[in-house]
Amino acid sequence: MEIRALVLVAMAAMVLESAAATTYTVGAPDGLWDLQTNYGEWVAARTFHPGDKITFTYSPELHDLVEVSKAGYDACSNANNISAFRTGNDVVTLTAPGTRYFLCGLTGHCDSGMKIRIDVVAAGGSSSPVSPAAAPTSSAAASASVSAGMTTAVGLAVLLVALHHAIVIKPSLS
Ligand SMILES: *[C@@H]1O[C@H](CO)[C@@H](O)[C@H](O)[C@H]1NC(C)=O
Repeated sequence: MEIRALVLVAMAAMVLESAAATTYTVGAPDGLWDLQTNYGEWVAARTFHPGDKITFTYSPELHDLVEVSKAGYDACSNANNISAFRTGNDVVTLTAPGTRYFLCGLTGHCDSGMKIRIDVVAAGGSSSPVSPAAAPTSSAAASASVSAGMTTAVGLAVLLVALHHAIVIKPSLS
């Protein structure tokens, strides 16, 4: 009985965790930080919230990853970088609302489009953190809260199914 209770608590924690934060692989479905991906399209199809993580997957022999300022992003310059990565599996946590800028620091790659701009918006909030008076009815905020609600609903459904199975199947753990 105790073991089953622990399993359920662990599953509930996992469901809550997944409802709260998402890990995105840049370039998915292909999932590569490369010269082929259209990063503008990839970003436009997603909404990023504080706590989410983004993973950059690539061959360190071919590319690297540099976080830069807006000026660096606009000019494709990594001279005054914020941080630099080159593991080929770099995970960046989006800690706060705001915009983050990344590019490949290898010569010519950024100019060929290998740069990405991630707008991080507060969950259920406005997409412009500097103006708290901004209308919360903007379509971006509305779709963000809808998608957060959907994530929670899916998580709860998974938990209910798990509970149902735990009760009906009664594994001989106890
Ligand atoms: C990051 O900036 C430092 C200091 O400006 C510089 O020495 C380093 O080469 C830069 N790294 C990359 C990958 O651009």
